Amino acid sequence: MTTFDLATTDALLSTTRAVRKRLDMDRPVERSVIMDCISLSQQAPTGSNKQGWRWVVVTDAEKRKVIADCYRKGVGDYLVTAKAAAEDRGASQDARVFDSAQFLADRMQDAPVHVIPCIEAGHIAADAPRRAWIGLGGSIFPAIWSFQLALRARGLGSCLTTLHLSYDKEISELLGIPDTMLQIALLPVAYTKGTDFKPAKRPPAEEITHWERW
Ligand SMILES: Cc1cc2nc3c(=O)[nH]c(=O)nc-3n(C[C@H](O)[C@H](O)[C@H](O)COP(=O)(O)O)c2cc1C
Repeated sequence: MTTFDLATTDALLSTTRAVRKRLDMDRPVERSVIMDCISLSQQAPTGSNKQGWRWVVVTDAEKRKVIADCYRKGVGDYLVTAKAAAEDRGASQDARVFDSAQFLADRMQDAPVHVIPCIEAGHIAADAPRRAWIGLGGSIFPAIWSFQLALRARGLGSCLTTLHLSYDKEISELLGIPDTMLQIALLPVAYTKGTDFKPAKRPPAEEITHWERW
């Protein structure tokens, strides 16, 4: 039987953060490390074992600039407004997240690698029942998270972002992504500055778990 080193496993699971300010924008990332992490992510579950995922990896600086512009258009003034609102209500942790998100929005083009996970969605009608859409998202997010965990284990970091999706058509055109593929996220990927990430403050499991009934 395989046994796991729980200390290491739990540290990986509890310290894989959304990395923005600590992405090392100046250090190149090898193609092989990205491919290894994508390869590992393919062990994730998918509905009906469809494995409809595709990964678009962009290192070209001109293309990253266009993607970053789409991301910033998607951000608009959302982060500035959200940060001010968080400060007003004294939510300093939220204000820090919005500040960090603004940093990433400003620097998105500098992340050495942009990874766009996509999923085959041609078979799903726009008015398909909720379970179909949940199944679709549920068939790619586990793989995305595995990809992020694999990066972290190798000294790299990433941030799952979605604010570019208001402009996904422009990005699909730029990268030749077929109409049947749905972009799910945009992950800026880089080596991290240091690797000493900490668990975030989260409510205890007792507070959010209902045993036997709600
Ligand atoms: C579905 C989803 C969409 C997200 N979109 C964005 C985004 O567009 N921009 C961003 O900076 N972070 C985005 N995040 C990252 C969250 O802000 C982040 O996970 C959260 O603040 C918790 O931080 P932590 O992962 O470091 O604990 C997204 C996360 C998820 C799960």
